[in-house]
Formats: sequence, structure tokens, C-alpha cells
Amino acid sequence: MVAVQVWLGLGSNLGDRRGHLTGALTALAAVPGVQVLRVSSFHESELLGEGPPQGPFLNGVAELRTTLGPQALLGVLQALEAQAGRVRPAPRNHPRPLDLDLLTYGDLRCDTRELVLPHPRWHERPFVTGPLRELGVALEALPQRPGVAVVGDPQAFAAQCTEWLAGGCVVGLVPTMGALHDGHRSLMEIAARECDRVAATIFVNPLQFGPNEDFAAYPRTLERDLEVCRAAGVHAVFTPTPEQMYEPGFCSQVQVGAEAQGMEGALRPDHFRGVATVVARLFALARPQRAYFGEKDAQQVAVVRRMTRDLGFPVQIVPCPIVREADGLARSSRNVYLSAEDRAAATVLVRALRSARQQFLRGACDRDALLQRVRAVVATEPRAQLDYVELRREGDLAELPPGPVDGGRLLIAAKFAGGLRPVRLLDNLSLRPGPDEA
Ligand code: PAJ
Repeated sequence: MVAVQVWLGLGSNLGDRRGHLTGALTALAAVPGVQVLRVSSFHESELLGEGPPQGPFLNGVAELRTTLGPQALLGVLQALEAQAGRVRPAPRNHPRPLDLDLLTYGDLRCDTRELVLPHPRWHERPFVTGPLRELGVALEALPQRPGVAVVGDPQAFAAQCTEWLAGGCVVGLVPTMGALHDGHRSLMEIAARECDRVAATIFVNPLQFGPNEDFAAYPRTLERDLEVCRAAGVHAVFTPTPEQMYEPGFCSQVQVGAEAQGMEGALRPDHFRGVATVVARLFALARPQRAYFGEKDAQQVAVVRRMTRDLGFPVQIVPCPIVREADGLARSSRNVYLSAEDRAAATVLVRALRSARQQFLRGACDRDALLQRVRAVVATEPRAQLDYVELRREGDLAELPPGPVDGGRLLIAAKFAGGLRPVRLLDNLSLRPGPDEA
């Protein structure tokens, strides 16, 4: 087999740091098929990022030539880490006696659960770039990974997800329409904690907008959105055009039923059919094990859950808590269109929901009395035009009969028409607050 050039990052911040590093290099040099060509000097650096209190690292890099394949070499490195006393799996950023990172392996690109090549962040780490420079390495000549892959072509997106799945990764999908805010970001961050790879999608889906709705005027802020995705730990962003998403002749849609009736479904005919269709298409392309949706759009979660079950997509739907502004207004891409007066008035929605919940927690449990409470608070704000308020069963949002309730979710929608264009806002609240709900 042809020998391949490899750059290795070395680090230690526990025990005899220098001893661990030099010991590993001596052991490596003795492995058949591995040559240690050059080693930088070692430098101290503090932990980058969050972690428990710990001493500084001693870091350096080494150039190897090897006839071992990348997996075999990784196995050797992990065995050396274990010999030095490193325990796997260990919590992130905990002190460790030995860290041996494969930075590059020739020009090889690979992206599996175990191994990502080139190392995704080598070029951002001064404790790697410093020693490389010291050895006279031209950093531009070394292969780098782009931080986030941005893909418009559906087949390229599918291929990326297939590579991750084949590499043993748990893939999380976060569908969005862009104009990203902290609500979207929280979905991505939750996905990044729970999955090996996160794919976000940014696609303003024409199928879910009615003829008189704001498809053309929907805010589009791609460059900023990509920054949000990067910061939230997303690995790939799918940004197709409508023509890429729906090829000429596209005509199959997902019919939706019970969950799509009433509330948004009544006001926006065909909206949930469009949502279910695009989400099904995204599931078919990405084949994620987990998909993240905000409870902000509680009816959407119910529709997507039902569609997923009915069509048999092997994906877990993960509902995520509503992210709010400091004054309680639920974050929404459409908030930017509110006039200053409407923005101030819009908090009436959450105030009304919280007021009814207070009543419930104090013992009031009649369905219609609770709804009346919401209406009464909304009526104090003349700028708000109420579309609906409903109290539905948790989960599937089935209707609750009149009379006493032992829980449920209040859902509200209202229009504010004092700005350049009318803005519809949605909100909802569980009568029994969860740990994440204020
Ligand atoms: P969009 O409105 O961009 O929302 C994308 C996701 O972010 C949805 O799951 C939504 O519920 C969630 N989200 C929005 N505001 C939130 C907030 N304040 N807190 C928590 N989560 C929030 O919903 C859609 O796009 C589309 O219908 C889509 C599912 C992408 C299909 O086109």
C-alpha cells in the first residue's frame, strides 16, 4: 500500500503531560507501517470552550507517514489514549491524559460517527496552527472542511445524509423557512446535543401559503441564517429553490385529516397539506432518525406527528419548548413586521393565556370559563383582532367537550393590523406548566 502523509494533533492536561506525549510518539514510531517524520515543540494552552476547572494543556503536532488505513490508524491512536489512562466515553472537555487527533490523512475526506477528515476545526485551533507554522507548513495547502455544508441540490443533500447514516451517525433534521431567530436556534441546539449530525433546512415552501398570504413578502435573510446555523452547531444546511424542491410535473401531496381541522386549518385551507407534503419530502431525502419542531406551532406538531405515524416514516418527532422575548411574546419570523405600537400590544396574547392558566391552577376548571378569561384579557387590547382561542387536549389537540377539564392546551391566534401589512401571531400554553415553560 502507498504511504500517506498524516498530520496528528497531540494534547495532554493530566498527569505527566510531557511524558504522555513523548511516550505516545515513541510507541507510535514502533508500530509497523507508521513512521514519525517530524514533531513540533510543545506549547501550553488553556482549554478552549466550556469545561470543568482544569490545568492547561501541553500541545503539539506530529507529521507521520503511514501505510495503515485511516480506521486502523485511528484504532492505534485510541489504544494509545487508553493506555495513557483515558476513559471513553468521557464527558466533553474534561481533563485527559492524552488526546491524539487525526487532523488530516492525505487528501481523504470522510464523515462518520467515529472519524471526520479533515478534522473539522483544526484550522481554528491556535494550539494546532501555531505548531504547524513552526514546522514551516503552509496552512493553505492542507485540506480543510467548510464549517457548514450549504447544499441546494436535493440529491446532494440526500447523499450527504446517506454518508452520515452509513457512518453510524444519528441524524437530526430541523426544518425551517429561514429568517432565523432564537426560537429556531434553540431547535438546532437541542438537535446538536442529541444527534451526531444536524441538518437544517431553509425553504420558504410555496405549497403551504394561500393565494392571498405572504409567500412573496416572507422575510429572506440567508447570509445571517447561515451564521445562526453555524453558531448553533448545524453540520449541513439545505437551501433548495422551489424548482429544485418540486420538479416540473410534481403533483403528489399528502392529504391530512383530523389534526388539521379547526384553528389554523380552518383559517388557512391547504396550509397543513403543504406542510405535511414538504416535511414528508424532507424526511424522504434526509431519512433522519429525529426531527425537531417547535411547540410554538402546536397544531403543526400534531399534524406532522400523525403524518409520520400514518405514512410510517421511521423518525422520532421531538417537540421543543416555545422561546419567548423577555416580555413574553413568542418569537416569530413575522414579529419584524409589527409596528412599534402593535409590538407593545402583542404581549396581550401571552398575558391572556397566562391569566387563564393562573385561574386553572387556582381551581377554575370549566372549559368555557377559561376561554372566556382569555377573551376578556384580549379585549383589553383594541389593537388585537382575535381569530380564535381554543382549549384542546394535549398531544393530538382533539376537541374537549364543555364542562370541567383536568388539563389541556390553550391555543390562540390574533391579527395586528397597525403596521405596513397585517400580521397574524400564534401562541399557546399548557394549563399544566412543564419545567421549560414559563
Ligand atoms: P418556521 O416558521 O420557519 O419554523 C421552523 C420551526 O421553528 C418550526 O418547528 C417552528 O415551530 C419553530 N419555531 C418558530 N418559532 C419558535 C419559537 N418562538 N420557539 C420555538 N420554536 C419555534 O414552521 C415552519 O417554518 C414550516 O411550517 C416548516 C415546518 C419548516 C415546513 O415548511
